[in-house]
Amino acid sequence: MHLDQKVSLKALHTFGMEVEARYFVEAKTQSEVLTLLNYRQMIHMPILFLGGGSNVLFTRDFSGIVIKISAKGISAVETDDGHVLVSVEAGENWDEFVQYCVNRGWSGLENLSLIPGTVGAAPIQNIGAYGVEVKEIIESVLVVDINTAKQRRLTNAECSFGYRDSVFKNTLKGKVIILNVTFKLLNPNLPTYQLTNLPPYQLHYPDLQHELASMSIAAPAIADIREAVCRIRRRKLPDTFVAGNAGSFFKNPVIMKEQLDSLKATFPDLPHFPNQGKGTIKIPAAWLIDQCGWKGYRNGDAGVHPNQPLVLVNYGNATGRQILDLANQIMESVKQKFGILLEMEVNVF
Ligand code: EPU
Repeated sequence: MHLDQKVSLKALHTFGMEVEARYFVEAKTQSEVLTLLNYRQMIHMPILFLGGGSNVLFTRDFSGIVIKISAKGISAVETDDGHVLVSVEAGENWDEFVQYCVNRGWSGLENLSLIPGTVGAAPIQNIGAYGVEVKEIIESVLVVDINTAKQRRLTNAECSFGYRDSVFKNTLKGKVIILNVTFKLLNPNLPTYQLTNLPPYQLHYPDLQHELASMSIAAPAIADIREAVCRIRRRKLPDTFVAGNAGSFFKNPVIMKEQLDSLKATFPDLPHFPNQGKGTIKIPAAWLIDQCGWKGYRNGDAGVHPNQPLVLVNYGNATGRQILDLANQIMESVKQKFGILLEMEVNVF
């Protein structure tokens, strides 16, 4: 392992800001992660564990040590109930892993195609898209305690998953590192699959249905679903190689029925999605931001994406501060107009 000084983080996070880490080291295996943790007590400075860097905004240079986790490896075992348990090292690229499963006909992750980032980051914010959240497919998560270097495997229930939320953003925040994730996928090729009575694919999200229809596909195979999701994402979301971004910058707000009813009196077109648990309702933040007139806004190199206003964009040389200022202005205008406080999904440093 190499400890480097004054390392540019521009290519190591998807917003692409020109910021520096005071120290930088890459852990390429699980045992390298554990070795670094054994030196933990000697490192008297802030530590940031970085995966694919697809959910961070740097507003300044990082004055501590950045540890990039890039351990790789995938292993799978078939179960006798139509499933396959796939164990994946945290540093695997998320979308390459999804492709790996789709190639083998293992279903469960195809709706989560083309999401940037690493496998180890997926459980932290319970990534979700096109009607599927990763919590539905996670069997367990292997973590190591940052202070004691002790390993522990968390069951799905112990991860306390919620909408873009988990134990890793709450009680375990800053306390553990995710080393490995085990997924439970369906394997429709196994003879025992018929016994599960489970549908192989999740096709209820309207955008996905429209895309498959526009591809003239009535009975999609797993590769068709991945292709449809990739087409929607490529059309709606900016390519991080062309314009820096971190996907959805805000969470979709979840409100109570009473608040919805009073908002609907003034905004009858307000879209909403019920059944978020405990009688709550999800409102698309993209709609709220759009209604406040931000869609396609640009000030210098900081902007709001013209096709998906939930995504803030660095068109070249925007600073993290400029993006954060823009985020605050958006939050203020949504609060003024709708009385709803948006919550950031991205981690700001
Ligand atoms: N909308 C507008 N104007 C627009 C675009 C969208 O008003 O220009 C409204 C429409 O009412 C639309 C609604 O927003 O029906 C929802 O839009 P979309 O289906 O694009 O999804 P989203 O709620 O904005 C969420 C996730 C995305 C995920 C998509 C697809 C969050 C915060 N975002 O976005 O996840 O890809 O659904 O399932 O939950 C991410 O988290 O980084 C991310 C990209």
